[in-house]
Amino acid sequence: MQIITSAENLKNFVALAREKKSTIAFVPTMGALHDGHMSLVDIARDQADVVVVSIFVNPLQFGANEDFDKYPRTLQSDAELLAARDVDVLFAPSVEDVYPNGQQVLEHAGAVGETFEGASRPGHFDGMLTVVARLFDVVKPDFAVFGAKDAQQLFLIKQMVASERTTNPQRWHALQIIEGVTVREPDGLARSSRNRYLSDEEHRAALTLSAAMRAAATTTGNASVRIQAAAQLLAAEPQVRLDYVALVDSSSFEAVDDSFSGQALLLIAAKVGNTRLIDNLSITI
Ligand code: PAF
Repeated sequence: MQIITSAENLKNFVALAREKKSTIAFVPTMGALHDGHMSLVDIARDQADVVVVSIFVNPLQFGANEDFDKYPRTLQSDAELLAARDVDVLFAPSVEDVYPNGQQVLEHAGAVGETFEGASRPGHFDGMLTVVARLFDVVKPDFAVFGAKDAQQLFLIKQMVASERTTNPQRWHALQIIEGVTVREPDGLARSSRNRYLSDEEHRAALTLSAAMRAAATTTGNASVRIQAAAQLLAAEPQVRLDYVALVDSSSFEAVDDSFSGQALLLIAAKVGNTRLIDNLSITI
């Protein structure tokens, strides 16, 4: 596995791969890799000749009071995991390489970017889309793989790529976005780089999130009844501070009303101790 740290060198690598007619699958990450990331890498490996994984903790997508400084940075062990997975390139650029013209927000997530995660983390999705767009421009992948746990992120990336396809079809013309299912720990907790912040007691409390999603899925009733079932369980766990629980139509990411029937996505965001966790489950109403 090559480790490439500059955008220019990565572009050269991509140009050579293209000369050989190789297809490229890309997995953007912020590092602190876990089994969830590895499942995305495996999807990428199955999909293309060349696999590029980026590790970049993107300052633009963290708010002033968030965990940018203490976000886990484990490049050495991440590189070992990726090399063992037959990844071709680990792209680990500096902030200056990603943002040669300064840290400007260049992509806007629009209305959906201001709801749910976006309401709790203003500017987060604009920063996330800005870095993903920049990485797509450098890597020029045929496939990019993202985890379903970050459902709103995935929705917005698909929306950005679809919109670019109409306004600027050449930019990412070959790109297909692939979704990787959420990987869970054996006890049900969704894998996240932030799980390492949880104490044992907090980890136990965090299981309420998956239990609440199951309650919403198995309760009979309309959207309000399902949300209420999840909210009640979450409220009963004193270590969980609920941010939101909602049911959205996954094709629009808008909240469904009580007349809705079909597949909807249950979203939960909560703080357990100082750690913010999100999760989601597709349920049938
Ligand atoms: O999901 C993440 O890890 C990040 O939001 C991403 C997509 C790598 C952009 O920084």
